[in-house]
Amino acid sequence: MSSLWLSSIQSSRVARFEAFLFPVVWNSKGVRWGFQQWKSRSFCVLLNRKTCQHVGTLRTKQLPLYCCLSSEAVVRLNTSELPATSNIPPSILEKTKEKLHLLPNHPLHILKTLIEKSIEEMHPREFSFYDDLPQLVSTKDCFDDLLVELNHPSRRYTDTYYWDEKHVLRTHMTAHDTTLLRAGKRAFLLTGDVYRRDSIDKSHYPVFHQVDAVRIFDRNTSQNEDKIIADLKSTLEKLAKNLFQSDMEIRWVDGEFPFTYPSFEMEVLWNGSWLELLGCGLLKRGVLDAGQVDKDSKGWAFGLGLERLAMVLFDIPDIRLFWSKDERFLRQFRDGEITKFKPYSKYPSCYKDITFWLSEKFHENAFYELVRSIAGDTVEQVTLLDEFHRNNKTSHCYRIVYRSMDRSLTNDEVDEIQDKIREEVARRLQVTLR
Ligand code: DAH
Repeated sequence: MSSLWLSSIQSSRVARFEAFLFPVVWNSKGVRWGFQQWKSRSFCVLLNRKTCQHVGTLRTKQLPLYCCLSSEAVVRLNTSELPATSNIPPSILEKTKEKLHLLPNHPLHILKTLIEKSIEEMHPREFSFYDDLPQLVSTKDCFDDLLVELNHPSRRYTDTYYWDEKHVLRTHMTAHDTTLLRAGKRAFLLTGDVYRRDSIDKSHYPVFHQVDAVRIFDRNTSQNEDKIIADLKSTLEKLAKNLFQSDMEIRWVDGEFPFTYPSFEMEVLWNGSWLELLGCGLLKRGVLDAGQVDKDSKGWAFGLGLERLAMVLFDIPDIRLFWSKDERFLRQFRDGEITKFKPYSKYPSCYKDITFWLSEKFHENAFYELVRSIAGDTVEQVTLLDEFHRNNKTSHCYRIVYRSMDRSLTNDEVDEIQDKIREEVARRLQVTLR
């Protein structure tokens, strides 16, 4: 590694920082980055590989760790061109900038803060909290280190957004666990946006938010697994009580995750039915090894999805509302308070059907995503209405329901979107329109 001083680089945006002299490090791939701690804040400067031009400054409390962990990924997501083999559409790449969980007074931010506060109260000064780790992770972090089998559906190109063969938009926050363990962290809670190629309806969206936490115990406690499980369950029961603000009924059922054993799921009785709230368990030895945790230590982990929880607690009927910029939605919520959403009048919906003969290349998730990438949030739902077979060929008919959360759509506008969808589906998925 060699280094150069940032102050020698000509860039007006960098000039502001000249006085602080950032050391800039070259990593193995020739990408340069640097950071400096100043008044307990950290800055990371990203430079274009070839031209040495300043392309961005990242500023976060967590930066030294964040840079050391994933400097390559950070640089990629911010500055490189999307590789030709990537299956990430621009509409999804745009979402990486939103970070809804960091927006003050947003329901997802309210829950994140409440969860962090509960954990801090239960285990004072023990946990580190992260909410801005880079969304692009390696397949090693996301799958291999977590013992996710090679043929597991979550690894499929049809289910996950691949940047290139070795990097994905994280499909779960657990993807950061072994990296943080290797960095010496022994208790942490992470919040962030996660990405999965999925169908479209009121409760599914290709981007959602998760909280994931890990707590490692010293060798004395680790000798008694039951004690660790009891600690896990009591932590989560208290957390659930804080979130639901009442003594609701809780039950534990056995779960199955590649990275924990034993595994459990917590369900809460809510309005008469059992709601699956979270997954958890003891981290498997293989995962602890990947995290370089010493042989005598053990620990627990848990993970939960924020949208589903927020939809229940705030009475939010449609997952797209979280992405709404409509003041009638945003103005309803206040940090620190869980209040019921008051629906405002919905704009009218309309639907259009599309029918085609499938091709070899066709996959439902690719179709949903193509619809979403063209229609954006004006599409409320896509459903398979009909399937039939003739002469070894299969035909699908889908109904696309259009409705905007923010305005009335015109007929012409919807027709135009539908035409574009027909054109692109035929071209990209090679189906034969009927
Ligand atoms: N990563 C899991 C998912 O996305 C959720 C999860 C389950 C996380 C169990 C955990 C855990 O940390 O222990 O479905």
